[in-house]
Amino acid sequence: MAANKRDDRPLRVGIIGTGGIANAHIAGYQKTEGVELFAACDVIKERAEAVQEKYGFTHSFTDYEQMLKLPELDVVSICTPPFAHKDPTIAALEAGKHVLCEKPMALNATEAQAMVDAWHRVRGSKKNLFSIGFNARWGQNAQTLKRMIDAGELGEVYYGRTVSHRRRGVPGWGVFTNKAKNGGGPMIDIGVHALDLALWLMGHPQPVSVYGVTYRKFGNRPNVFNPWGTWDPKTYDVEDSAFAMIRFAGGASLQLECSWVLNIEKSYSQTVLAGTEGGAQLHPFMLFQEKHGALLDIVPPERATEGQSGAPVSTHALEVQGFVRAVREGTPPLVLPEQALMVSRIVDAVYASDESGDAVKL
Ligand SMILES: NC(=O)c1ccc[n+]([C@@H]2O[C@H](COP(=O)([O-])OP(=O)(O)OC[C@H]3O[C@@H](n4cnc5c(N)ncnc54)[C@H](O)[C@@H]3O)[C@@H](O)[C@H]2O)c1
Repeated sequence: MAANKRDDRPLRVGIIGTGGIANAHIAGYQKTEGVELFAACDVIKERAEAVQEKYGFTHSFTDYEQMLKLPELDVVSICTPPFAHKDPTIAALEAGKHVLCEKPMALNATEAQAMVDAWHRVRGSKKNLFSIGFNARWGQNAQTLKRMIDAGELGEVYYGRTVSHRRRGVPGWGVFTNKAKNGGGPMIDIGVHALDLALWLMGHPQPVSVYGVTYRKFGNRPNVFNPWGTWDPKTYDVEDSAFAMIRFAGGASLQLECSWVLNIEKSYSQTVLAGTEGGAQLHPFMLFQEKHGALLDIVPPERATEGQSGAPVSTHALEVQGFVRAVREGTPPLVLPEQALMVSRIVDAVYASDESGDAVKL
């Protein structure tokens, strides 16, 4: 077994929130050498105990504060809904744990900023890592394109379009349709993946203004066809689609679109980037260039198709493995807290722009 650098033992992992996505984190830790599933916590006791039994965690808790008192615990995955990201993250960082928190980072940028501040406060003494679960960056096509962009294959990237659309796909479990607990609808749920991916590929340009529009055309209607479960139309108070244009310092722009319900042919995710020397799309992967008087579409023989990450293991597992590797090596994780904070600031600006009807300056 690979060892924890600190004292030659496996890294001990805790999970806070043992609902849906926790299973993907746990599967990732199971595939990672030198990791021990140590503590599972959920406010619903039966859920914590069921996960403890199913995966063989040493401990289970209903109170994360109690769990964080375990001195042996090294790494914590926060897999709670967005309203319960900030406090457990800050508590875990202050307890000296490495934290991988699910997306969205928090309910809003104010909370996200408090998390980043807490991390800066403690990391001088504790050296703990902090990252956010933007697993789309680990997709095979995304990794390939990032290498190409960094090598200058696209030249100056000045326009992008990043999309996560579902024709019908409202999450019918948990708190997804509750603004106070989820922070919003598809914009903060799946739009953040599309946005983070594009910002990362573009090299994190500095946003200067955001113009956003959101719609709630289906959430309050009864009996909307939805294979992802049901919700109460009387309490649904988030958007069901959102659209934005983001301008960056230096002139680049990014069009962002996302939906849980939209009357289009089919659900799809796509990121398209256009630069002075070439362009590219992710699904299916294609590079667009002009050489010697001819237009070229460059296609790798092995590429992931739409809806697939293309990676041999899930992007969640790659994310977890990448985080554990960073912890062991003491290197920065792929997703830095400040990058996730910027995603939250842009999401806040989309909602604020929708409210005011004007572009919001950042
Ligand atoms: N990266 C991805 O692809 C992806 C996919 C799905 C969900 N998510 C994110 O993961 C998070 C959780 O989503 P989910 O679908 O697993 O939700 P879920 O409702 O299935 O599970 C959340 C669990 O957290 C528990 N919980 C709530 N407050 C708690 C607290 N204070 N302490 C301990 N447990 C608490 C709930 O009881 C529940 O069991 C959300 O932020 C969601 O956006 C990410």
